[in-house]
Amino acid sequence: MYKLKSKNMSVADIQKLHVISTIIHELRTPLSVINSNIQLLENGKDMMGQDMQTESFGYCHDAIKMISVFLDDIGLINKINKGIVPFTPEIKSLDPFIRKLVKELGSIKSNRSRLIYRNENTDIKLNFDTKLMRYALVNLINNALKFSKEEIIVSVEKYRFGEVRIKVKDSGIGIPKDDLGKIFEIFYRGKNTGMIPGTGLGMSIVRQCMHLHGGKIYIDSKVGKGTEIIMSLPYEKF
Ligand SMILES: Nc1ncnc2c1ncn2[C@@H]1O[C@H](COP(=O)(O)OP(=O)(O)OP(=O)(O)O)[C@@H](O)[C@H]1O
Ligand SMILES: [Mg+2]
Repeated sequence: MYKLKSKNMSVADIQKLHVISTIIHELRTPLSVINSNIQLLENGKDMMGQDMQTESFGYCHDAIKMISVFLDDIGLINKINKGIVPFTPEIKSLDPFIRKLVKELGSIKSNRSRLIYRNENTDIKLNFDTKLMRYALVNLINNALKFSKEEIIVSVEKYRFGEVRIKVKDSGIGIPKDDLGKIFEIFYRGKNTGMIPGTGLGMSIVRQCMHLHGGKIYIDSKVGKGTEIIMSLPYEKF
């Protein structure tokens, strides 16, 4: 039998294998949840009360949603990389867009009272794609929420001439120095993430989103102290 040695493989091939094994892992987990709950519903239906049945259906729905979000994310990255993602920026007020999004995420019970929004520049109008920007900001806020237990501050600032900064700051676990340059890679997750859930897709989409908008992304992070992620976008007075 011919055994492929990893030292004969190119870096690109090793990366591809990493992507494939991550996809397998990410799909296998929810599929086995669906499988075991369907088996339970098929075989033990008579012994299960209504509550238990509802709970089992709930696990199936959650697992299906997980698969669907995961496939949507991969689909989006693929489209962005092929340059076929619809990028349709429009000039809009930034403040109501972010305010609404923070309110939405803050309305989730576990997030309540942890999300703070600060913006003294409510007049700012930017040329941005709502769908992509929403995706980017939701990922940054959700990251802050899952990697920290304290308050999270979302803020908007005019920075120097011709630049607007959207910042998400937390006091959570922070990102190890060695990981800082890598977290924009597809499926890359920091060494200190442990059991905290995630697939490592969000930041690569954020970076692509900034690229499409002609913006930049900065990270200031210290392990055990917290993280601040800044999306910097070109600004003209419209
Ligand atoms: N606010 C933060 N605090 C600590 N670590 C962070 C923070 N934001 C990002 N990271 C690190 O960057 C990695 C990549 O982030 P990314 O959003 O791409 O992945 P994820 O959140 O783990 O998974 P996904 O977004 O696909 O659900 C994270 O796994 C984590 O190691
Ligand atoms: Mg994320």
